[in-house]
Amino acid sequence: MRRRDFVKACAVGAGCAGLAPASLFADAGLRPRRYQRSRLVQSSGEPLRLGELEQLRNYVFSYPYRATPAFLLDLGTSVPGEQSLRTEAGETYRSRHGVGPKHSVVAFSAICAHKLAHPTPAVSYIRFREARGNDEPATGVISCCAENSLYDPVAGGRVLDGPAKQPLAAVLLEHDAAADELFAVGTLGGELFDRFFTEFEARLSLEYPDGNAREAAAEDVVVEPLSRFSDNIMRC
Ligand code: FES
Repeated sequence: MRRRDFVKACAVGAGCAGLAPASLFADAGLRPRRYQRSRLVQSSGEPLRLGELEQLRNYVFSYPYRATPAFLLDLGTSVPGEQSLRTEAGETYRSRHGVGPKHSVVAFSAICAHKLAHPTPAVSYIRFREARGNDEPATGVISCCAENSLYDPVAGGRVLDGPAKQPLAAVLLEHDAAADELFAVGTLGGELFDRFFTEFEARLSLEYPDGNAREAAAEDVVVEPLSRFSDNIMRC
């Protein structure tokens, strides 16, 4: 089975050996979607260790497809989960807690829920930043400078302000504490990947001339700081 077909099969609920425990996907409401179980690694190929993440720093990796960027964040504070969230289509779900010893590590699709701004090697209009003033959550926000949507990463990516009509889709993580290895295993929330591949088809065909933009993320996915991934990071 080709990787692309594997992703599709998992997304519709077929059995997928080596993926997350079934309990992770057992909620009512909008169900998480299983994707490739990708281990997060450093650029050297060594597994990413949670202790090596700098708190409140933007990290980027490709998930669940080769061309779809996601943020990895250690918020430095416990992320409790259980926030009630709703997609633009009206589907409800509850956010998940962070992973790691402090439950502080989370991941989100880095594709803005408004008009799909996302980090590219040339520029990023969206990033996590620390709070400005008392009107913002003390932990910080994910801010899209394209049209000023703000998201709360402690509250499952819910929209705090701006034109976005649904939370950022979460990327589900598993931490193997014994090996200190981190895995991305699926998504939860309103996915925008079909729109993403349609709207950016022309650019992606240039960036991925082999046509593999929509292939599943690799089994080992490199995590790198946003500051290394994008030449220009917009600040607003
Ligand atoms: S694309 Fe992010 S606010 Fe419009």
